[in-house]
Amino acid sequence: MAGKDVLELGCGAGQWSISLTKLGARPVGLDLSPRQLDHARQAMAEAEVDFPLIEASAEDVPLDDESFDVVFCDHGAFNFADPMRLVPECARLLRHRGLLAFSMVTPVFDIFWDNEREAAGDRQLNNYFEHRVIEDDESVDFQLPYGEWIRLFRANEFVVEDLIELRPSPDATSSYDLVPVEWARRLPAEHIWKLRKDAS
Ligand SMILES: C[S@@+](CC[C@H](N)C(=O)[O-])C[C@H]1O[C@@H](n2cnc3c(N)ncnc32)[C@H](O)[C@@H]1O
Repeated sequence: MAGKDVLELGCGAGQWSISLTKLGARPVGLDLSPRQLDHARQAMAEAEVDFPLIEASAEDVPLDDESFDVVFCDHGAFNFADPMRLVPECARLLRHRGLLAFSMVTPVFDIFWDNEREAAGDRQLNNYFEHRVIEDDESVDFQLPYGEWIRLFRANEFVVEDLIELRPSPDATSSYDLVPVEWARRLPAEHIWKLRKDAS
């Protein structure tokens, strides 16, 4: 990471970018929420680090083409921005052979999602092919079937290096309430994509 220009999309309070600064990276944190950016400023001051914060949507980033070696997010913009706008924007911002890495909930999680209970249950409730925009009072989430993700990446010159489907180990316990640990042992609730721009 040392010396790399890194963009975090949907940085929230900026904990990942703060850690990357300590590894020698040059991060930029972007979030559309001014409140989250205030939290990031406070956390940066406490950690005694400094890097640029930008208030903008990841669908329309006010930065130059090919400015970054790495674009990433951890449950940041990739859950909440339109992938048809977001993936081309990531391709534009990355340099040749740049890395795009992001975590988000899976299409599997989304087909089990119960909007009334605001939880993923044990029954498939939604159509895998059609459940792309998931809206409640607080937020709008976006999702695509796996084949469409891959076609969208390829159309934007990305090669898939890995898709990690997170699964807790048999002895794992968790205080994280996205899904019960037993649920996540049987089905992937979250995954991490690792993509390379212009791999050849
Ligand atoms: C679940 S939080 C995760 C924050 C951070 N990545 C973390 O690991 O704690 C999602 C963040 O994405 C931001 N966000 C949502 N939609 C966005 C968009 N279109 N562009 C930029 N940020 C967005 C939210 O404001 C929020 O700070």
